[in-house]
Amino acid sequence: MKTIALVAAAGSGTRLGSGCPKPYRLIGQRPMISYTLRAMDRCPELDRLVVIVSPGDEEFCERQVRDLGCLHKPYQIVAGGAQRQQSVYQGLLAARGIAQIVVIHDAARPFVSWQLVQQAIREAEKYGACTAAIPLRDTLKRVNQDGLIEETVPRHGLFLAQTPQAFRFDLLWAAHQQALQEGFCGTDDSVLVERLGVAVRIIPGSIRNIKITYPEDLELAERWLASGSIEI
Ligand code: C5P
Repeated sequence: MKTIALVAAAGSGTRLGSGCPKPYRLIGQRPMISYTLRAMDRCPELDRLVVIVSPGDEEFCERQVRDLGCLHKPYQIVAGGAQRQQSVYQGLLAARGIAQIVVIHDAARPFVSWQLVQQAIREAEKYGACTAAIPLRDTLKRVNQDGLIEETVPRHGLFLAQTPQAFRFDLLWAAHQQALQEGFCGTDDSVLVERLGVAVRIIPGSIRNIKITYPEDLELAERWLASGSIEI
């Protein structure tokens, strides 16, 4: 069964500040994307990768990947779109006709372990659709436009979705087609499959599998690396 990873790296990273696009920001002297790609490269179940980058960044990314030597599996670099969903769709087009299973991962989650990717793939092989997620730890409030709490949402059964998310290709393809037709735009791929009425299984994600979004996340990532609490 051919399995392809789609690595979403076409975000602008404006919330992180500075001019350098997020996937190439350094953490512990290496670009963020090199950690992400290395984890993918180590996962034995993956046959190839599609790296989705901002239009115009293809050559730069190609050079980075070559210079860093972090990828030994076959890979392809494609241009993404304005929204994450459109970027993943470009990846799906590249994997179409080759992949039976696709695993989607955010380049902005550099501390994913290859074992988590492997587990996501195995679940998708068995059940069709799977996402890593962690239980909500804080108390959840719904707040109105005036900044007043409307509701405290019981957190029992609530999870924060992460990537990797893995799917049978035909399922995710159908889910993206339906979303396109209906003009629906989601913030992950799982929601598109959920809208098909297909059950998506949860596997335990990791607190270390953070999405680097704000400068504080980058500082935390640096600290984890410096303390040796991240295995790289
Ligand atoms: O914007 P957000 O933080 O949700 O982005 C999550 C991941 O999706 C990041 O790795 C980012 O590079 C990617 N992305 C993308 N194409 C976009 C927007 C985000 O590949 N248009």
